[in-house]
Amino acid sequence: MNYYKISNLESYFKAYKKSVKEPENFWGEIADENFTWYQKWDKVLDYDMINADIKWFVNGKVNIVKNCIDRHLNKRGNKTAIIFEPNNPDEAAQHITYLELHERVCRMANVLKDKGIKKGDRVCIYLPMIPELAVSLLACARIGAIHSVVFAGFSASAVASRITDSECKMVITSDGAYRGNKSIDLKGIVDEALEKCPSVESVLVVKRTNTDVRMKEGRDQWIQPLLDAAAKDNVAEIMDAEDPLFILYTSGSTGKPKGMVHTTAGYMVYTAFTFKNIFNYKEHDIYWCTADIGWITGHSYIVYGPLLNGATTVIFEGVPSYPDFSRFWDVIDKHKINQFYTAPTAIRALAKENLSYVENHDLSSIKVLGSVGEPINEEAWHWYNNHVGRKTSPITDTWWQTETGGIMIAPLPFITPTKPTYATLPLPGIQPVLMDDRRNEIEDNQVVGSLCIKYPWPGIARTIWGDHQRFIDTYFSAFPGKYFTGDGALRDEVGYYRITGRVDDVVIVSGHNLGTAPIEDAINEHPAVAESAIVGFPHDVKGNALYGFITLKEVGEYRDRANLTKEINEHISSHIGPIAKLDKIQFVSGLPKTRSGKIMRRILRKIAEGDFSNFGDTSTLLNPEIVDEIKNERID
Ligand code: WT7
Repeated sequence: MNYYKISNLESYFKAYKKSVKEPENFWGEIADENFTWYQKWDKVLDYDMINADIKWFVNGKVNIVKNCIDRHLNKRGNKTAIIFEPNNPDEAAQHITYLELHERVCRMANVLKDKGIKKGDRVCIYLPMIPELAVSLLACARIGAIHSVVFAGFSASAVASRITDSECKMVITSDGAYRGNKSIDLKGIVDEALEKCPSVESVLVVKRTNTDVRMKEGRDQWIQPLLDAAAKDNVAEIMDAEDPLFILYTSGSTGKPKGMVHTTAGYMVYTAFTFKNIFNYKEHDIYWCTADIGWITGHSYIVYGPLLNGATTVIFEGVPSYPDFSRFWDVIDKHKINQFYTAPTAIRALAKENLSYVENHDLSSIKVLGSVGEPINEEAWHWYNNHVGRKTSPITDTWWQTETGGIMIAPLPFITPTKPTYATLPLPGIQPVLMDDRRNEIEDNQVVGSLCIKYPWPGIARTIWGDHQRFIDTYFSAFPGKYFTGDGALRDEVGYYRITGRVDDVVIVSGHNLGTAPIEDAINEHPAVAESAIVGFPHDVKGNALYGFITLKEVGEYRDRANLTKEINEHISSHIGPIAKLDKIQFVSGLPKTRSGKIMRRILRKIAEGDFSNFGDTSTLLNPEIVDEIKNERID
């Protein structure tokens, strides 16, 4: 594979320049040289950034799974495609070759077809981190079904709303999931969700925990007997470049999650190109990304990006703390990992534990370290660099989003000099700009602005499922003609970018993107609650944690505040999932509001952070007296 030889800073700048001056030639050559097409495109790019109408490789015909698996079979048939490392270290790891993966994906594809799944149908996948999860994604993509993976930590009602929104016809799940020393009843959660999902005709169940589950006659089937009976070859569907590949939900600033739609060819080209360059992947390397396939990081950099490059990718079922805090280092040592990609929240949590956990392992196989999901603070960066990278493996701090499909700003290892807390330079093809409040482009350095991207790249999401207007409103309206990321950033004197955090009502908790609005909606459904406002505050492990300010109705039976705090968190858990629980809940007699009734979150954010220095202009408040009350009763 030859994605533009970027071997030093000079060739990076050369590639970058070409990608800006001749974007169609730049991406056209990469697409031409590195993939198998049924039919080439008529035009590389067609776009309208006002109406958010973006098409790459127009009229090209391709199947991404043929590119992930089939075309490697000659050269890499017996190479390991996937290493499965189970939750329990005493259970043997599995090595799945490209040939075996091909057979498993084809069998699953045939099962889906037998069950009536056709090109364009939506399939919800709710599985733990086991090989069947990757196989399910690839089986859908092989037959042209659109997968919608829901992270197996979401609650029944969150699963139901995602299934309903995209009218999935099928759910693929498992009896249960192992997670550290716990096991989770996934099938039970699906059963509860499906009470509200008339679109679902069938449920296929993978056996993982061997727990008793209810199988609904006519709807639910164990998957293994069907796979055993299925043919082991399958003719892949010919897909248009712009046919949807998958939907992945991300939270937004209103209650309803946004079903981000990624399409086939652009996503393929972009994830393959970025994987190769950012991780400096070489043919015999073993690559491990610790994310869950339920998030975009797992889609792009556990499944698609690595397989498109014929790489060996690890699927890890467990957690960093089980059986003890050395698990990550154990797995690196055991499988001789060369590229390790994880999140700052995991680094911070592990850095708090005894150093001997990491020091007792041989980490010398590591060549490149990656970080993703939130800004990596200086302390965590140095710990990662000193103890995991042994000061010899460069850290690539990768900034991107569910919406961007792949990594956008990141240092290229051994090429771009790193600088702690800086994601550094944009990849070729990515044109970031910083905008001020008056919608002007900021030319100066050392000024914070709203981070936008002013030109399309192949991996950009094309729409929000069923709501293109919301796509335009959310991403293309604040700065017309540009994609608005929702993040703030700073640019230094050499052009390095530092992401300063969200500038909207999204809080990144442990690397998870949580919109405050859906959490508020959930809390407000509790019978005792009148109104609520959630803000983020800095947390030394999670990066940010959630602080809720809540006003109550006059309900006598809810006098016990401690109990009510517990109940509200349980309520959030069952409506969204445990990741959205609040760290602090303060009951207040009112929320600071403007005369037009808008909650002044800016003030609440400052109080939550414990910064009482400057509340800014409070003259527009309807009830300025409330600020002192909230401040005085702040939870430390
Ligand atoms: C938001 C996107 C795509 C990765 C998984 C999260 C924050 C992500 C970084 C980074 C600073 C980062 C941003 C972004 N973020 N990576 N390296 N440095 N911030 O995807 O759930 O769509 O969240 O995560 O705020 O907008 P996501």
